[in-house]
Order: sequence, then structure tokens, then C-alpha cells
Amino acid sequence: MPAESGIAEAAAVLRAGGLVAFPTETVYGLGANALDARAAARIFEAKARPSFDPLITHLADAADLPGLIGAVPPAVAALVERFWPGPLTLIVDRPAVIPPIVTSGLDTMAVRVPDEAAARALIAAAGVPVAAPSANRFGQLSPTRAEHVVAGLGGAVDVVLDGGPTRCGIESTIVDARGPQPVVLRLGALPVEALVEAVGPVTVRPGSSGQPVAPGTLAAHYAPRTPLIVGAAEPAAGDGGRRGLLAYRQTPAVGDWAAVEVLSPEGDLTVAAARLFDALHRLDAAGVTEIVAEPVPDVGVGRAINDRLRRAAATWH
Ligand code: TXA
Ligand code: MG
Repeated sequence: MPAESGIAEAAAVLRAGGLVAFPTETVYGLGANALDARAAARIFEAKARPSFDPLITHLADAADLPGLIGAVPPAVAALVERFWPGPLTLIVDRPAVIPPIVTSGLDTMAVRVPDEAAARALIAAAGVPVAAPSANRFGQLSPTRAEHVVAGLGGAVDVVLDGGPTRCGIESTIVDARGPQPVVLRLGALPVEALVEAVGPVTVRPGSSGQPVAPGTLAAHYAPRTPLIVGAAEPAAGDGGRRGLLAYRQTPAVGDWAAVEVLSPEGDLTVAAARLFDALHRLDAAGVTEIVAEPVPDVGVGRAINDRLRRAAATWH
């Protein structure tokens, strides 16, 4: 249903323990009442998500954080002040009201306030914190349109709120700011440069696949069904089959491409991020045998784009 008119009904579904997919500024989320362990369990079931992969709790307003967790550590408060609402997820201690299933048994909790009016209105109307991972089946492409959610999760969701394509197109940046220096656990829509400008040096540790502190950082993730490689747009040697190209700025002059998606002719990384998953969804549906994805400049949100492309490729190697 349209996001503007569906808020009240969707909020009632959340309060009753149901699942609501909703737009955020990053990607669509699959939401459930974060205070309700049974509702949260339905998220894991709908996504076929392993129970070791904790969920992000979403709040309607930064002012709701102390009410949920009590005292906010100063370094966390500084980031909240500067970047919420926005595509920044922060790690805090898990309060007792949040059932352990939400955090996969961790004594920490990931939390953010999305910068999207429909999302905040939904959470406010539900009157509870909302646990929400990206609204896709585990390991697959993230959804940036309501159509992606319906195609991927279909009947497993009670309500899908359609707010059109998401603005950022790539997930939130996850930061643990509880220690002496903030640690970036997942590259995302908020560029590392913006964090550094606001709070000084940070450590970037987009986790290892071995011990997944943030399984969005699993080596293989965010993958299309079609095999994907990251590399230059070069003609295939011999019969390369029907290949699809994810280009950054321009369609290459050479090569026999069955389908081409250009992320941003003007070379704007923010635009490229917003189009990334939509373009991959289209290439995935184009019936090609392989997707070649050009890396983008490794600065700003470009780092998060390259991170997602590497993880998508890792599924096939
Ligand atoms: O932009 C986003 O963050 C989107 C929208 C819907 O808000 N959500 C999202 O959720 O990307 P998901 O589940 O796809 O990714 C959440 C990531 C996972 O990799 C998870 O492991 C990590 O957050 N995470 C959750 N709780 C954590 C914790 N306590 N410590 C470290 N990482 C955590
Ligand atoms: Mg995800």
C-alpha cells in the first residue's frame, strides 16, 4: 500500500506482532516489534536468515534513545547529535527490554533513526522500537523499491509500504563508538570522510567472514543470482556467452554486451549508490550468464559501493 495512506494500518500490524516492509533512506526494511521475541523470530523465518545475524533496532526519533537504553555514552551521543536521523547505525549495550533474539544473543544492540518521513511516522505510530534488517532473503540483493520486496519475500510479509525508490540505495554505515576510537564495522551510505570530519580518526574494520560481528560484512553477501565478477569492461575472450555490464560512467565502445546498466554518466557516486541495487536487480533479470561490474572510485560512498560489489562477487568464487 502507498506509504502515505498506509501508516495507521501498518502500525497496527506491527503492534499485533506482524511483519511490515517499509522504505528507509537506505534500503527497504523488514520490520517487526523489537520488544516482541515472537515477532522478531518471524523476521528470521521470512528472510531465511541465520540466527547468528543480529537485527538493527529503529527508532522514530533520536530523543527516544535514552528512554530505551538509559545513559548514552558521550561519543555515541556526539554521533547521534551530528548524524541522526540518517544512515548511521550505532552499537550500544542491549537494554533488558529488547529480547536476545533481536541481537542474536549479543549483549550489544545496533540502533538507528532513519531519515525517511514514512519510516519515522510508522515507528512513531506503532509506539515501539522496530527491528528491521533489509527486506530481502538472506545473502541476496538488497531492495531499493517496493517491487524488489514483493518479488523477493512476497507472501512472507503482511504489509509492504511503497514509498518509491530509496534515496541512498545502500545500507547504513555501522559504527561502534563505545571504545577510545570509533570503529566502522560496515561501510555504508554515510561516508567515512564525513565521520572523520565530525569526530576525528576512525578505524575501518569491515569485519572478517570468520567471526561475523556484522554479518553484512560476510565475505559473500548482497549477491545477484547471476555470477558476478568485478573488473574492467573488456571484451570477452572467445565466446563469452551473454554478458551483462554494470558500468560506472559510460557504455564501453567495445565488447558484445547483452545488457548494460550505467550507474552515473555524470560520475556522481551518490547517484551511483542510489542506483546500484536497482541496476543489479535489472541485470539479474536480463537473462545474462555473467555480470561484469566495474569498480568505482574508492572515495566517499564509492568505498561502500566497491565493498558491496566485492561481496557480491565473493559468492561465486
Ligand atoms: O540501512 C540499513 O542499515 C538497513 C535499513 C533497513 O535500516 N538495514 C540493514 O539491516 O542493512 P541488515 O540486517 O541487512 O544488516 C544489519 C547489520 C548486520 O550485518 C548485522 O550483523 C549488524 O547490522 N549488526 C546488528 N546488530 C549488531 C551488533 N550488536 N553488533 C555488530 N553488528 C550488528
Ligand atoms: Mg542486509
